[in-house]
Amino acid sequence: MLSVLPSSSYKGTRDFYPDDSILDTYDFRKQNYIFETWKKTLTKRGFVQYDSSIIENAQIYIEKSGEELGSTQLYSFLDKGGRLVALRPEMTPSLARLVANKFRELKFPLRWFSIPNCFRYERPQKGRLREHWQLNVDIIGLLAGEVELELLILLGDLFKDFGADKRHFKIMYNHRQVLDNWLKSKNLFLQKELIYKVLDNWYKLDIKEKTEILSESLESSEIQTVLNLGNHEPQAFLEYQKIAKDFREFDFLKNLDKLQPDLEYEFSPTIIRGIAYYTGLVLEAFDKNPQNSRALFGGGRYDNLLELFGKSAPAIGFGWGDVTMHEFLSGHNLYPNFNENLQKVGILAVSEESLIKIFKTIIPNLIQAGKIYEINYEYSRSENKRRQTLNKKGCKEIILV
Ligand code: HAM
Repeated sequence: MLSVLPSSSYKGTRDFYPDDSILDTYDFRKQNYIFETWKKTLTKRGFVQYDSSIIENAQIYIEKSGEELGSTQLYSFLDKGGRLVALRPEMTPSLARLVANKFRELKFPLRWFSIPNCFRYERPQKGRLREHWQLNVDIIGLLAGEVELELLILLGDLFKDFGADKRHFKIMYNHRQVLDNWLKSKNLFLQKELIYKVLDNWYKLDIKEKTEILSESLESSEIQTVLNLGNHEPQAFLEYQKIAKDFREFDFLKNLDKLQPDLEYEFSPTIIRGIAYYTGLVLEAFDKNPQNSRALFGGGRYDNLLELFGKSAPAIGFGWGDVTMHEFLSGHNLYPNFNENLQKVGILAVSEESLIKIFKTIIPNLIQAGKIYEINYEYSRSENKRRQTLNKKGCKEIILV
């Protein structure tokens, strides 16, 4: 007897059904809406699209993506020629490779975007899957400064084009070198790893847990210093802001509130980002809906990544996944009503003879009028039943031919 295979998708991946009027899922229309809105916002601002294969040399992640993405979460295997390859867990190393490969021909600065699918061997859970699509927006060839402001404004615009504002989300940023300089000024640089861990999980850990972790190698006065910073205690935060003044990009970032008054941006030492290659500004956005507590996007400046391919160029960008974006839009009811402007016409063919008229004149006329159609060929059923079938499929108008 033939064995029956499971019809469910591979663990942690999604199937995309064409319409959610029957199934309450994240369907193709929703995904297309997200992708199309992203594309429109970006192309209007002069960004151009690129792509590459989902298979890459695994080494680029092993060397640059950090402990999780480059090892435990990496889908890697030997191809038939014995090469170690991987399904991309992120796009940024591929982007660096593409740029390095045509370095002489490209005209910098580059303003590029892509919407690749990425694979991470994760424990599937709310907001985290094994395959997701990720908008990647990157600007390559500009040193830290004005471009940090440009990118943060662009992020705000990307939200606004979905109808979102500060009631729905908050954009947060930090700077790895500011944090490192602060650690040095407090003689805490050697305990950096532990302090990064606590700041990175600031809103997940309670005070007892934070203290417990830090007490592994910090004295109680030092623990208090870290807690004051994480809590934005005014004096501690003022010192932190003073260190930030040494970095040119903060001259520009101070204008964010003036430029995007309907949005909320926050400079916070609690933004760390797991990926190893970030060198300056790091950023994240949070949904204000407590049911969707994961970061909506993550990114930052990575000025050394192209060195992996023997080239050098400053770079900044972010990745924004479709899994949490869907949760964000549905949680705040920000999806449009897809059926509102849908004009679907049902065509009831009375016999085989009516087909000539249907294909020759009726359908071309409907297409010209911007209407979509569905034909019913069940000649032998009663007209009433056939009308009901077409109504159920969303046809408001029905033509009998
Ligand atoms: P990342 O923080 O690893 O950064 O991922 C960026 C975003 O992708 C996350 O904030 C989340 O929205 C989404 N994401 C990541 N992993 C998953 C998952 N397993 N399931 C669902 N969504 C996920 C990067 O990947 C960087 N390469 C981004 C970047 C671009 N930095 C500079 N340019």
